[in-house]
Amino acid sequence: MAEQVATNITWHDGEVTQEERQKNLGQKGCTLWMTGLSGSGKSTVAVALEQVLIQRGHHAYRLDGDNVRHGLNKNLGFSAEDRAENIRRIGEVAKLFADAGLVTITSFISPYAADRDNVRELHAAGELPFIEVYVDCTLEEAEKRDPKGLYKKARAGEIKGFTGIDDPYEEPANAEIHIKTHEMSVEESVQTLLDELAKRGIISA
Ligand code: ADX
Repeated sequence: MAEQVATNITWHDGEVTQEERQKNLGQKGCTLWMTGLSGSGKSTVAVALEQVLIQRGHHAYRLDGDNVRHGLNKNLGFSAEDRAENIRRIGEVAKLFADAGLVTITSFISPYAADRDNVRELHAAGELPFIEVYVDCTLEEAEKRDPKGLYKKARAGEIKGFTGIDDPYEEPANAEIHIKTHEMSVEESVQTLLDELAKRGIISA
């Protein structure tokens, strides 16, 4: 966890309650945290889910690893330390979005269990739902898909420290949802997530 550096700062509470926010929006905020190998289908499922939610009148927003690395996290690489900072920052952003009442959908490899658990704790401290989604697909299948041609480069030694090849991926032990994208269609994955949101009363069924 990052150290608190600033001193002489005081938390300032607002006057708006979560209930008021939820009433305005007609939904609860939450974070759906997709984790899995590159090419496992995180972004594909996230894009499809976001679209369905918006079409049905819900308020959703997607935070994607490759996209966030173009902006907020453009100064971070792929060392374990940088990946931890990537996940810490995006965990904080997701928490803010969830607090604002959005169904926040993140798609980051987030290979380290400890980093994901930190984000889970952050949400628990803010009493915000955190749903870890293991977007599972065999390395063999991800490599076969290779949508960005990165596995090929990694195998050729042109990318060092590529997740699944010469960098670790720690499988989630307690993910709320386990999606197997080599066995399920995108529609089935999206439906699984919609069912979970409805079951938890985050969106109306
Ligand atoms: S994370 O490990 O810090 O969570 P993140 O999801 O933000 O990763 O970014 C992963 C994306 O960056 C991959 O989908 C891929 O397009 C690209 N990438 C570039 N280099 C690497 C690498 N060494 N390991 C994994 N992904 C990489």
